[in-house]
Amino acid sequence: MDDDTPDEVFAELKTTNLGIWGVAQIAAGTGLAVYAMWAGILQPGFRKVPLKLQVPYIPASKAQVQNVMTLLRGRKGGLVDLGSGDGRIVLEARRQGFAPAVGYELNPWLVRLAYFRAWRAGLHGKVLYRREDLWKVDLTECKNITVFLAPSVLSLLQEKLQTELPDDALVVAGRFPFPDWKPCRIEGHGVDRAWAYNMQAQRKDTLKKNGNLIVTNGDLDNELPKQKEST
Ligand SMILES: C[S@@+](CC[C@H](N)C(=O)[O-])C[C@H]1O[C@@H](n2cnc3c(N)ncnc32)[C@H](O)[C@@H]1O
Repeated sequence: MDDDTPDEVFAELKTTNLGIWGVAQIAAGTGLAVYAMWAGILQPGFRKVPLKLQVPYIPASKAQVQNVMTLLRGRKGGLVDLGSGDGRIVLEARRQGFAPAVGYELNPWLVRLAYFRAWRAGLHGKVLYRREDLWKVDLTECKNITVFLAPSVLSLLQEKLQTELPDDALVVAGRFPFPDWKPCRIEGHGVDRAWAYNMQAQRKDTLKKNGNLIVTNGDLDNELPKQKEST
């Protein structure tokens, strides 16, 4: 049996010249480990999602969660987090009284982690994490929606939200704002910033931009769709 002490082994390693073959072996091993982590832990669930719609998992910071909750203050009812990651927004929303509080997340490991965190927080059975593709979720009944997704998917998400959400819905986006929408409130700074969007105001603004509304005395509630002139 070899009875070298750890110090001796380390000293030997330090003096050993690895050579090109050794360096290549270490690089290949590291690459394989990174690939295994990506394919096994981060990627499952995304196989059917087009590459351009895949958003990586980055948890919201504490300040970001706080800013999102500040923008939701005074709101009632249920809340949905699209792409819920480890479930932290849903958990905090439940603590603030939103019910049902639901997260949609494609990565099964993150769904499990979210349930574990809920159990640890004493909220087992009080929150719901569903392993579903957010692009396929029916949002017609949702009143409070939170998102923290990549800027590359936000214009497409704008369309889905504008098509499906009821007028009295409030959407809160963390870290990245929606590219074409006008926020009604903004909270926080830098990477922790969050933007709130009122759905009814948003719809009217979009109609106005597209030239489909006549503005009368600036009173948006009296605006009527513009009639096309007949030729
Ligand atoms: C930037 S993370 C945000 C996580 C969490 N909402 C938070 O604020 O901490 C985005 C999450 O969306 C998930 N996601 C991306 N595309 C999705 C899809 N099509 N359906 C469901 N979840 C998705 C990712 O797996 C990732 O966990």
